[in-house]
Amino acid sequence: MKFKTIPSHIAVIMDGNGRWAEAKGKKRTEGHRAGADAIDRLLDVALEYKIKNISLYAFSTENWKRPITEINAIFNLLIEFIDTRLDKIHAKGIRIHHSGNRSKLSKTVLQKIDSAMDVTKKNKKITANFCLNYGGQEEILSAFTRLQNARKTNQSPLDKTISPKEFEKYLYTHPLPPVDLLIRTAGEQRVSNFLLWQIAYAEFFFTNTLWPDFGREALEEALVFFDSRKRKFGGLT
Ligand code: IPE
Ligand code: IPE
Ligand code: MG
Repeated sequence: MKFKTIPSHIAVIMDGNGRWAEAKGKKRTEGHRAGADAIDRLLDVALEYKIKNISLYAFSTENWKRPITEINAIFNLLIEFIDTRLDKIHAKGIRIHHSGNRSKLSKTVLQKIDSAMDVTKKNKKITANFCLNYGGQEEILSAFTRLQNARKTNQSPLDKTISPKEFEKYLYTHPLPPVDLLIRTAGEQRVSNFLLWQIAYAEFFFTNTLWPDFGREALEEALVFFDSRKRKFGGLT
């Protein structure tokens, strides 16, 4: 398909893995596994349309409330995802980025993510931003703390006005651009603490499609929607 404007940053709240599995009489973990395949498909179609940045909400700061068995299954799938797909991802020119608080992530998970980021750091086609132990509020608070710490180190005044540009350097997503298009699957219409700062002027696309069923057609539907928007950023034209 042809589009006038392609979003430079798409953020996806990949929701509905559990419902997909339940509807098929399978375990929730199977839904998460099918969700990992959907990430692969999304990246392939995104490459085709030259979308430069994709943020994927994989585990929120609130998801720790889930049963430990499900949490472990999600992180094991992530490790498996990196182990089995990193070579292909790298060969396709995809750069891996992580957004989120590192403190609660296990050593194994951190090692996998860090090596995936290191191996792919020179890739330019797409940045795939995996949001793991990510929460928008936590990100803003930690950015503020780190900014103040940097000011202390540089002996610059702590009460000096903070510009958005200076602040954004401390967000986990730095240096990704603001989100143009936010997609949420599985029928819910809420933000669930995702990229609160970065979605200030994003267009929102909600679909009933469950994340494991998301593919080319669903992404194209979202791109058609985005292409039809008139973005004014507070101005008149
Ligand atoms: C999204 O699917 C994946 C994660 C939150 C990790 P869910 O697991 O939330 O699926 P539903 O909402 O229960 O269907
Ligand atoms: C949002 O989905 C988090 C991720 C997709 C990782 P949830 O299923 O956790 O969100 P709520 O609880 O429905 O808001
Ligand atoms: Mg959910």
